[in-house]
Amino acid sequence: MYNDVKEVLLSEEKIADKVLELAKQISEDFAGKPLIVIGVLKGANVFVADLIRKISIPLELDFMAISSYGTSTQSSGIVKILKDLDKDIKGMYVLVVEDIIDTGLTLSYLTENLRSRGAEAIEICTLLDKPERRKAHIDVKYKGFDIPDEFVVGYGIDYAEKYRHLPFVGILKEEAYQ
Ligand code: IMP
Ligand code: MG
Repeated sequence: MYNDVKEVLLSEEKIADKVLELAKQISEDFAGKPLIVIGVLKGANVFVADLIRKISIPLELDFMAISSYGTSTQSSGIVKILKDLDKDIKGMYVLVVEDIIDTGLTLSYLTENLRSRGAEAIEICTLLDKPERRKAHIDVKYKGFDIPDEFVVGYGIDYAEKYRHLPFVGILKEEAYQ
């Protein structure tokens, strides 16, 4: 399994340091506000689990599942809600937590959708960003790392539903795509 990884881009330690830094900033920025953290399934699952445990202010947690990629490595641009929030977010301060922003199409759709529900504020936190690939403009307030335009897996991020359990973020070997 690890043999399918060409290069470890972000080690466990490097990710943990960044998670702590982001969580501290989030705890300061949202202090005294009704915060709901929304993890975007399935990719952000590992990141959000680590992140919330370092946030020191009260929060609620919910998840949404949206489809943007099939089993291919190219964004389809088609966004569909597969699992919605359990409750109303009217008046809440929403922090959307994503694993990786590529074209931005998924989050651009999602934030518009959440805005229409009357949230007081919507901010985005992503572990990874591929800025070169952006097609839709989005404001990202909390960002872990900019990465090159390479297909990565691990720390929640998959290729065809595999590799999510790797504790680091790595670049997948081309052979593993076939
Ligand atoms: P976007 O709509 O193009 O920004 O798509 C973002 C989503 O595509 C992420 O949440 C991931 O699920 C997926 N994605 C983008 N780049 C990668 C990658 O390098 N590896 C695995 N999934 C990726
Ligand atoms: Mg995703």
